[in-house]
Amino acid sequence: MSVTQEIKNRLDIVDVISETVQLRKSGRTYSGFCPFHANTRTPAFHVFPDTQTWHCFGACSEGGDLFNFVMKQEGLDFKEALVKLADRAGVTLDQPGAGSQKKKAAYQKQADLLAAAADYFHQLFLHAPQAKNARRYVDGRVLNQETIAAYKIGFALNSWDACRTHFNGQGYSDQELVEVGLLTENPDKGTRYDRFRNRLLIPIRDLDGRVVGFGARALEPDGIPKYLNSPQTNLFDKSSLLYGLDMAKRHIREARQVVIVEGYMDVMQAWQAGFRNVVAQMGTALTERQLTQLKRYTKRFVLALDADAAGMKATMRGLQVARETLDRTDEVKFDARGLVRHEGRLQADIRIVTLPDGNDPDKIIREDAAAWPKLLAQAKPVAAYVIGVMTADLDPQDAKGKTAVAQQVIPLIKDIEDPVERDHYWQELARVLGVDERALRQVKLPQKRASVRRRPSAQSSASPGQFRPPMPPPPPDFPPNGDEMGVRPTGRRPRGRIRSNLRQANYLRQCLAFPRALAQVNHKLKQHGQTAVSEADFDQTEDKILLRQIQEKTTDGSVVTIEELCDSLDDILLSRVQSLLTLPPTPESERDRLADSLVLSVLNWRKEKIVKQVTEQNKLLKEARTSGDLEAVAFYQQQLREMSRNLLEIDRARDAMSAVSRRRAEET
Ligand code: UTP
Ligand code: MN
Repeated sequence: MSVTQEIKNRLDIVDVISETVQLRKSGRTYSGFCPFHANTRTPAFHVFPDTQTWHCFGACSEGGDLFNFVMKQEGLDFKEALVKLADRAGVTLDQPGAGSQKKKAAYQKQADLLAAAADYFHQLFLHAPQAKNARRYVDGRVLNQETIAAYKIGFALNSWDACRTHFNGQGYSDQELVEVGLLTENPDKGTRYDRFRNRLLIPIRDLDGRVVGFGARALEPDGIPKYLNSPQTNLFDKSSLLYGLDMAKRHIREARQVVIVEGYMDVMQAWQAGFRNVVAQMGTALTERQLTQLKRYTKRFVLALDADAAGMKATMRGLQVARETLDRTDEVKFDARGLVRHEGRLQADIRIVTLPDGNDPDKIIREDAAAWPKLLAQAKPVAAYVIGVMTADLDPQDAKGKTAVAQQVIPLIKDIEDPVERDHYWQELARVLGVDERALRQVKLPQKRASVRRRPSAQSSASPGQFRPPMPPPPPDFPPNGDEMGVRPTGRRPRGRIRSNLRQANYLRQCLAFPRALAQVNHKLKQHGQTAVSEADFDQTEDKILLRQIQEKTTDGSVVTIEELCDSLDDILLSRVQSLLTLPPTPESERDRLADSLVLSVLNWRKEKIVKQVTEQNKLLKEARTSGDLEAVAFYQQQLREMSRNLLEIDRARDAMSAVSRRRAEET
């Protein structure tokens, strides 16, 4: 969860605002006099606990979330508001204070040492006479000069202290060498010696391309272990790293798919053959942290794992994690209270391919590169794969065996989010087991094991007493007396904020991917008599700031890449961008309709907002009438007239978009 999200979960906007604004509860909302414009007659300022937002329907006509309220009220910038609210919420921010500065420097020194070590091993590999065997070995594995350079393949001399001596000479202490795993320490004997000896050294880099450790392959066929890896250090944590991701990430995005293999050699061989969206989990089971990283680039995963028993097991383990990570809604951070969870839930596409017995990608690609994409094309969706594996050698006469299979597969089927897909697999399982689907649905499931139980959802991280339902109650029928001012918005009833939030997120997501869309959308809005998209259109402070940043970067017509934009953002906004990137970009084939569909989306969310405002204003108008406050009645009537005009204009703009482009846009 992002820090801002955590803060919002812990603090209640009503509490915070009540400290400076006197709020009165009316129905599900609170109202009071707006602190941002002079006004003592009409309580046009509203706070919505459901969405944890506020809005002034009066002169300033502004609104937003907790953050921009505090920013506005106290004249703070985002960072300052963040510090203040974090403190209040008891959330710790990683601030670059003196302590962490020191830590950073130490970290940097370790990173420098590892980078130097990678160079040192690489130079030895390329030039040392003692590395002749290693070079022959690599030659035998058909890795060319370009690949060797790209992955900086190295060699460690067959010596107990060559590496140590070399780096001692460069001013690194034994202690520092031990800390990054280049030296091994035997505390009993009090000895220290080079960890990597007479091995092929494969530097392992993090997401940003920094060397964090090594995988060192034995050169003899029966060397034990086959791969000696760096020990767990504060830089090297195998469970959160994916080998090759630094070089693959761009290609994963482009290919809209990531292929996950088991080993170093598989990644290198694939890369050499031009398949560059490939990463390796380095022999261990896929972890949540690995998937969370990949999710930034794509939601389409293909697991290409060895056919042997170990590979299969790893696959099954991977499955469990894959589903849990992607389904868990606290990872889907793109909105305040997980409101979008039901609409915007990540629909990851995880497919699995088992490689022909005894083959790994390295071997397959080396023998026939064309076979690789063909194999990947055969990858099966998780449920289909599991059903296939489980029933592969099931005896059609073995009734008990069928129950056992059903018990294992059914929980997975039940997990499937999409009802059509889910139904498909009920049928599929019934078919392969040769039993009636109704019988399957009555199968008693054994107690779930603790490890497979779903984690509690995001709400549980809020402090006690702050529980919020995952979904707000449905919006009240609107307008309760919408005919009051002849305001009766046409069209289908919008589904409140949930839609709006997703639309806003999607708008930003598409603009991140295609910054040109920004100007196109504004141009079209203008053509239809609507104002350009502005900060006021967004509810979340991060989104307001993000929009401004994208606008600033693209004003001179220049095109920014997501990477460039990300470079200019601080961590908080970056995590928002990352969560936005989990929404799907528009496919190339639909790019020409993108502007139309975004214009429609903007119109829809503006409409939803106004409709909501109409509801509130009608309520206030009624109250004013009851209390005989004629001035207030006049004010609200005036407001409602304005809103109804705006609504008409929005509807007109929707109609003006040619029927064809609107229909097409609505389809997307
Ligand atoms: P494999 O045994 O499939 O090795 O382990 P490989 O990648 O095919 O290696 P080659 O082709 O025989 O050289 C898959 C991955 O598991 C990790 C490594 O990351 C390896 O690439 N592994 C394997 C280890 O960390 N240690 C080992 O002893 C073996
Ligand atoms: Mn191999």
